[in-house]
Amino acid sequence: MNSDKPLHILKADHFDRPFLEYICKLTDHIRRLDKTKDGLMYLRGLLAHRRAMLYFTQPSTRTFLSFQSACQILGIATSEIRDSSTSSERKGESAEDSLRTFSSYVDLIIMRTPIPGFCDKIAASLDETPRPVPIINAGSGPDQHPTQAVLDIYTLMRSFRTSGGIDGKTFMMVGDLKRGRTIRSLSLLLSYFDDVKIIFSSPPLYRIDAALKDKLHRGKLKFVETADFEEVLPTADAIYMTRVQDEYDTVKGESAAIDSSKYHLNYEHLSLLKKDCVIMHPLPRRGELDQKIDSDPRAKYWRQERNGMWTRAALITKVLGVDEHILLPEL
Ligand code: CP
Repeated sequence: MNSDKPLHILKADHFDRPFLEYICKLTDHIRRLDKTKDGLMYLRGLLAHRRAMLYFTQPSTRTFLSFQSACQILGIATSEIRDSSTSSERKGESAEDSLRTFSSYVDLIIMRTPIPGFCDKIAASLDETPRPVPIINAGSGPDQHPTQAVLDIYTLMRSFRTSGGIDGKTFMMVGDLKRGRTIRSLSLLLSYFDDVKIIFSSPPLYRIDAALKDKLHRGKLKFVETADFEEVLPTADAIYMTRVQDEYDTVKGESAAIDSSKYHLNYEHLSLLKKDCVIMHPLPRRGELDQKIDSDPRAKYWRQERNGMWTRAALITKVLGVDEHILLPEL
C-alpha cells in the first residue's frame, strides 16, 4: 500500500469554507497574473514539467475546454480520450485498466464519466498502486460536479463582493433537481456559509432526492421546496437555473411527459427580480433560460463559465502542489 496519497478532487462534501476561500483567493491571483505577458509566462513555467490526461467519456463542452485551457495556462501538456470506443476499451479492456494505464504516462487525471461514484473508485484503486496520481472529478453521472460548484461559489463571491458576500443570502435552484449534479454539489457548498436559505423549485417529479435532503438537514442551511416558481422569484438574491437531464431517462420519453414549462425563466420575469439578483446557469441551456435575458446586467452565466477556467487552474495548482508559488508577495 502506498502511504503517500495524492490530493484528489472527488466530491463537494470533501471541501470546507476555508478551502473554498483559499481557492477563490488563488483564482484571483491567477486572473491577475494572466493579464500580463510576464505573469502569463510565470504561470506557464509552474507546471511545464507535468502532464495531464483528460478522460471524458460523457459529452462536455465547457468543462473539457476550461480544464484544457487551465492546463495550457499552467504549462501542462495534455492528452485526451473523449470516446472510449477509440481506446483499447473497444478491445475489451476495462475502464479501470484504462485509467491505470493513464497513470503510467501522466501526473494528473481529469475525468468525466456517466457512472456515479466511479471517480472515487478509481482514486481509491490507484492509491493502492506504486504510481498513484491525483484524480479530478469533472462530473460523475447525476451524482457530483465538484469543480462546477467551486466555480459557482467563486462567481457568487464576486457577484456579492459589495453586498456582504454569500452569508445571509437566499438562493433559488430551479429545474431538474433530482438528477442535476450541479445542484447537488453547489447546495452542499452553500451549506458551509452562514444564514443561507435555498428555495428548490421544480416539477414534483424532479424534486431533490432523499440523500441530498438528508445531508442538508444535517447542516445549518435552511431549505424549502416549492412547485410555485413565480411566487418566490422576488425573494431570491440568486437564481440558479438548470436544464432537464433527460440523458438519465430510464424509460423512453420519461422527461418529455413532464411539463417543465412553468419553471422557465423568461424575459417577462425580469421585472419581478431584485434589482441586483444574480442569474446563473451551469449551461448548456435549452428553453428554461430565455436568450433575451443574456443582455441583462444580472445575467452572470457567461462570466460563470469563464470563471471555470480560472478556478480549475487554481484547483490544479493546489492538487499538484504549486499553489504557494501563486501567492508569492512579489508577483
Ligand atoms: N456545466 C457543464 O458541465 O457544461 P459541459 O457539460 O458543457 O461541460
